[in-house]
Amino acid sequence: MCEDWIFFLTAKETELQYTIAQILRYKHESAQFVLLFLIQVLYKTGFMWYNIKDSMMQGGGGVRLDKMLSECGLASRKETARAVRAGQVTVNGVAAKRADMQVDPATDAVTFCGKPVCYRKYVYIMLNKPDGYVSATEDGRAPTVVELLPEEYRKMELFPCGRLDKHTLGLMLLTNDGQLSHRLLSPRHHVPKSYAFRVKFPLSEQDVTALEAGVDIGGYVTKPCTVSLSGEREGIISITEGKYHQIKLMMEAVHNQITYLERRTFGPLSLDPMLSRGEWRELTDGEITALSEQSSTTIL
Ligand code: URA
Repeated sequence: MCEDWIFFLTAKETELQYTIAQILRYKHESAQFVLLFLIQVLYKTGFMWYNIKDSMMQGGGGVRLDKMLSECGLASRKETARAVRAGQVTVNGVAAKRADMQVDPATDAVTFCGKPVCYRKYVYIMLNKPDGYVSATEDGRAPTVVELLPEEYRKMELFPCGRLDKHTLGLMLLTNDGQLSHRLLSPRHHVPKSYAFRVKFPLSEQDVTALEAGVDIGGYVTKPCTVSLSGEREGIISITEGKYHQIKLMMEAVHNQITYLERRTFGPLSLDPMLSRGEWRELTDGEITALSEQSSTTIL
């Protein structure tokens, strides 16, 4: 039992190890338990204080070197510590001495394994989602959209902003900016999305009028939207909400069935025609600005 506790503490300091060794020699198992528990509490409190101190020190645009490298997807904190010991990390041309040293990404030149490090806290990616991929970071059964990205982006913990069904194609935004994502998905922001669709049976004028006015999709009446037909069984539908299976259910409400669905726009973003299915690119600065403006426009 006690060995597990020691593993959990992961303390490196010899003094602490010595103390624990003494406790383990102690006769009573329950006393060992209490003492180790106290050490754990102290250790955790110290660790918390360390993190608070760390974030306070970052006030002037500074960031810990290991945090910077992990946010860039280059190395975990442990790997950074190892690289620092091996002299593989430099700051302004000098080998870094500590993985927890403060650096200012705006002014300090950092290299990792000989390559300059370009620090970005958040990354925004436009992906052309192919068929059969699920909008998730992990799934036991189907491949996920995140698996379409190279390893360095996956390390940045990107997640899909909203979801498309497994068989829906097209524009998908992936980011690690939780706040922006939350704002874009919030029902209060009414971010418009448009989809190219095909349905099984011809859509009548009455169907279009009903869809545009709002249909019951199982206890919920959809908000007004626009439908523009380019043929009797295909067109573009633009909605400002994102209920689960919304467009499929809307078509079912008018006794039809979606056979093809591709998202073309998401707020100010349009699917880049240069991206083939499964391809991706980072958003431009202009697109990021437009997205963040969109997400701060609240319509109550
Ligand atoms: N509506 C749907 O039915 N599916 C999607 O993937 C997106 C919107």
